[in-house]
Amino acid sequence: VTALGTSQPASQPAPAAARSAVRLQHLLTLRGQPPELLRDLLSRARDYAKVANEPSTNTRELAGRTIATLFFEDSTRTRTSFTLAARRLGADVIDVSGSSTSVNKGESLVDTARTIAAMGVSAMVIRAKPAGAPADIARAVGLPIINAGDGKHEHPTQGLLDILTIAQAHGRATDFDLSGLRIAIVGDIANSRVARSGIAGLTALGARVVCVGPPALAPRSLATLGCEVSSDLDSLLGEMDAVMMLRIQFERHAPASEPASAAIVKPTAAIPSIREYREFYGLTEARAARLKSGAVVLHPGPFNRGVEIDDAVADGARSLILRQVANGVAVRMAVLAAVMGE
Ligand code: CP
Repeated sequence: VTALGTSQPASQPAPAAARSAVRLQHLLTLRGQPPELLRDLLSRARDYAKVANEPSTNTRELAGRTIATLFFEDSTRTRTSFTLAARRLGADVIDVSGSSTSVNKGESLVDTARTIAAMGVSAMVIRAKPAGAPADIARAVGLPIINAGDGKHEHPTQGLLDILTIAQAHGRATDFDLSGLRIAIVGDIANSRVARSGIAGLTALGARVVCVGPPALAPRSLATLGCEVSSDLDSLLGEMDAVMMLRIQFERHAPASEPASAAIVKPTAAIPSIREYREFYGLTEARAARLKSGAVVLHPGPFNRGVEIDDAVADGARSLILRQVANGVAVRMAVLAAVMGE
C-alpha cells in the first residue's frame, strides 16, 4: 500500500503529488494566476491521474474534513468528479442541489452558503448562474471556495483539465511549457466560461490560442483576453495542434423570431440556421481528416452531436473527450488538496 492508500505494487513510488507544497486560498479564476502556480497544480494533477480513477484510491489526505458541493446549475461531469475527488482524498462530501434548496424560497446564494458553512464544512465547491457568485461567497464565508462554473465567466478546473489533457497528448506534461503549440477554441465562445478559463491558462503557459466562430459568437473583442480571433475555421485547421469544440449553449441564446419550440437544439438569433452553422463551424469527419498529424480533438461536454461535432469525430481516434473526463477527477483532487491541505 502506497502513501496514497492504493493497492499498487510496493515497487511503485508514491506519486509526487503527496509531497507537493501548492497552497491556494480559493480557486475562483485562472486569469492572472502565476504560471508557477498553474504548473504546480498541473504537476500534482498529473501525479494523481495515475490513480485518480481507481475505485480503491483513498489517500486519507483530507480525512476528517467535509466538503460541500453547491450546484445551482445542472452538471454531470463537474459535480460527480468533485464528489469522487473529495472521497478519494478521504473527505466526507455533502452534495447540495440548487433545485431543492431554500433559494427557491427567496434565500440568497450567499445566505445559503453561510448556512451550510455554519454546519462545520471545510470547503465549498460552487456552481451558479450569476458570474461572480463564487467570489461573492468567498468574501462572505471564511472558507476555501472553488468555482465550479459561474455563468459565462470562468470554469477554472475545466481549464486545468483541458490543459493537462493537451499537455499529455503533446509530451508537455513534465514541465507544462506549452510554447509552440497552437490551440483553436471553436464555437460559442461568447457564452463560454470554459473558453475564458482555457484562454487564460493556455496563454499563461505559452500556447497560442485562436478563438474561431461566427462574429456573433466569437466577437473581435475577445482579443483583449490575449487570444487571436477568426471566423474562418477552414483556413486555420491544418495548423492546429489541438482543436477544442464548444457546445452551442442554446439555453443562453435569445430565441429566433420563429414559432416557439420545446426542442433544445433550435435556431437562435445568433445561429439562424443549424445546418449552416455545421457547414462552416462543425467538426465534421471531412474537416477532421484535414487536421495535421498528432493534432487532437477536445470538447468539455456535454455536446450536441451533429451540430458542433460529428459522431465519427467525437468517438474517433483523435478524440480525447473521455480522457478529459478522467483527468477531471485528478485535477479536482489536486485543487481540493491545494486549498485544504496542510
Ligand atoms: N464540462 C462541464 O462543466 O460539464 P458539466 O456541466 O456536466 O459539469
